Amino acid sequence: MEKQINKIAKFTAMKDGSVEDYHIIRKNDEATARELPDRLIDHLKEMAKDDGAYKINRLEHVLQCATRAARDGAGDDWVVAALLHDIGDVLAPYTHGQVAAEILRPFLSEEVIWVVRYHGTFQMFYNKSLNSELRNNRDRFKDHPYYHSAVDFCEKWDQCSFDPDYEWEELDFFIPVLRRVFSREPFQNY
Ligand SMILES: [Fe+2]
Ligand SMILES: [Fe+2]
Repeated sequence: MEKQINKIAKFTAMKDGSVEDYHIIRKNDEATARELPDRLIDHLKEMAKDDGAYKINRLEHVLQCATRAARDGAGDDWVVAALLHDIGDVLAPYTHGQVAAEILRPFLSEEVIWVVRYHGTFQMFYNKSLNSELRNNRDRFKDHPYYHSAVDFCEKWDQCSFDPDYEWEELDFFIPVLRRVFSREPFQNY
């Protein structure tokens, strides 16, 4: 990777750091940020190690989800959201939507981020083992402007993407769109 660190900050406690030290740290942070797409690709590959007791593994699920979004003609934001919506699954089993949303937040539209953040609540609608209060927990967002987007995301792309017979695109197919989205200037209110 491009990261070139030929300097190390001299301090051992932040309060003793010089301006030059913080310039060194800043340069390193910028290089780390540019590597984010590579880190996400590595993590997606990691997701293949776990199937969560579904018929297909976690990587195959998000590939299938993103393939459905792409074939429906969805734009870059939605395709990347479909690809990364479960990225926090194994690291944050109780808050995975929030983790994924925070990773995506600097680069995607507010609507897409909202859907990723709350998709877990909307997915509960399909889980017949839950009581009706939990299954209908999404109703608390009924009047929210993005409610129907979240319903559609789950109905058309997420809840149906556990099918071993569906012919999804492989990870390589999505790498250009992933890099395109993460090369955007962060926090520009997309
Ligand atoms: Fe999820
Ligand atoms: Fe999912």
